[in-house]
Amino acid sequence: MTTDRRTFIGTAAAAASAVALGMLDVNAQGAPPTPAAPAPRQLRLLILGGTGFIGPYQVRYAVERGHQVTTFNRGRTAHAAVEGVEEVTGDRAVNDYASLKGRTWDAVIDNSASSATAPQWVREAAAALKDAVGQYLFISTRSVYRDISMVPATVDAPLYTPETTEGWKEGQPYPYGLAKALAEGEAQRAFPERATIVRPGLIIGPGDETDRFTYWPVRIARGGEILVPGDGSDRVQVIDARDLAEWCVRLCEQHAFGRFMAVGPKNGRSMAEMVYGIAAVTDAPLSWTWVPAEFLAQHRVRPYAEMPVWQPPTPGNEGFARFDLTREIAAGLTFRTLADTAQATLAYHRSRPPERQARLRAGLTAAREAEVLAAWRAAG
Ligand SMILES: NC(=O)c1ccc[n+]([C@@H]2O[C@H](COP(=O)([O-])OP(=O)(O)OC[C@H]3O[C@@H](n4cnc5c(N)ncnc54)[C@H](OP(=O)(O)O)[C@@H]3O)[C@@H](O)[C@H]2O)c1
Repeated sequence: MTTDRRTFIGTAAAAASAVALGMLDVNAQGAPPTPAAPAPRQLRLLILGGTGFIGPYQVRYAVERGHQVTTFNRGRTAHAAVEGVEEVTGDRAVNDYASLKGRTWDAVIDNSASSATAPQWVREAAAALKDAVGQYLFISTRSVYRDISMVPATVDAPLYTPETTEGWKEGQPYPYGLAKALAEGEAQRAFPERATIVRPGLIIGPGDETDRFTYWPVRIARGGEILVPGDGSDRVQVIDARDLAEWCVRLCEQHAFGRFMAVGPKNGRSMAEMVYGIAAVTDAPLSWTWVPAEFLAQHRVRPYAEMPVWQPPTPGNEGFARFDLTREIAAGLTFRTLADTAQATLAYHRSRPPERQARLRAGLTAAREAEVLAAWRAAG
């Protein structure tokens, strides 16, 4: 979010503008949501990384639930201030937690340890907070799994370790999956019985600057002949940032400890169900051209990056989008409708500056899509 947008949110038109900017969610009818009901018991909640993409949704929901919220970040990422939220600063890159000293919270949510330094950041944060918080909720990732060949997959699938991470050597920066797996271990060691590990798949919805899901609503809303990957049956599991954020707060309210996936919906969906579901909330005339994975590979169209969300099954990865969510749903994970996510994502996208709208960070450009479609027609 730009500073301009922050200023804009502060004006008299705040509510309507914020909806347009995706800072508030909209339901499938485009109306602002009803505020969440208050929680039975007020928590003091510390959020490491309370700005950025998922942090603000946690902050807003926690405030609606009646909790007392403190955010901790460097103060670099622009954001709209939320009334009643205490903002403290510190830089995890230099182990600077001085602003948290002498304070206590019921729970901490750690969003911001995400790069190669994640294990060190969690170790240091845990050392600073060990006797100051009752629960440590760490936002990990689905990328921690070394082998998810089991279908359905569960959180018990084996994780990357230094010994099993192919191509990585001691002294090199940790790759993302290994870094997060090691960071989970740090949280669990420092908070035995009091750590909550949440492993999201692709986080989607309004506010996502990676555009990985956004590509699809935007592309589908443009209409015309749409290149779609595979035969439509490949599975996808994603998580709306708002569902993830709200569930994290509820996991703290319930003192729910242990490991959880954060993907959905309950029974997953196929790629076809996803794109047809998105099309249901757009109105441009369109047609679908499903192009097999092998042809896309031959034409160097990369799954996930250029055909976002889509990951065709590969050996060892068959459970990637087939997680059994029994444990998660029992612990209160809920799912917005695809229509809600698609509409809110489009509304957010359309609020962005024209040059940003014109340049998505994932997916195929119109020219490249036309080129691949032409090659497919020529081959057929
Ligand atoms: N996006 C996905 O699809 C996906 C999937 C699975 C898991 N995840 C995980 O989700 C988590 C949250 O992602 P996000 O997209 O919300 O992150 P984000 O938008 O990049 O926000 C990062 C937050 O961390 C703060 N921060 C960054 N560097 C810091 C530092 N040195 N010291 C203190 N605070 C710092 C930032 O504020 P300041 O800049 O002001 O410091 C900001 O509040 C990450 O752990 C990521 O690994 C993401």
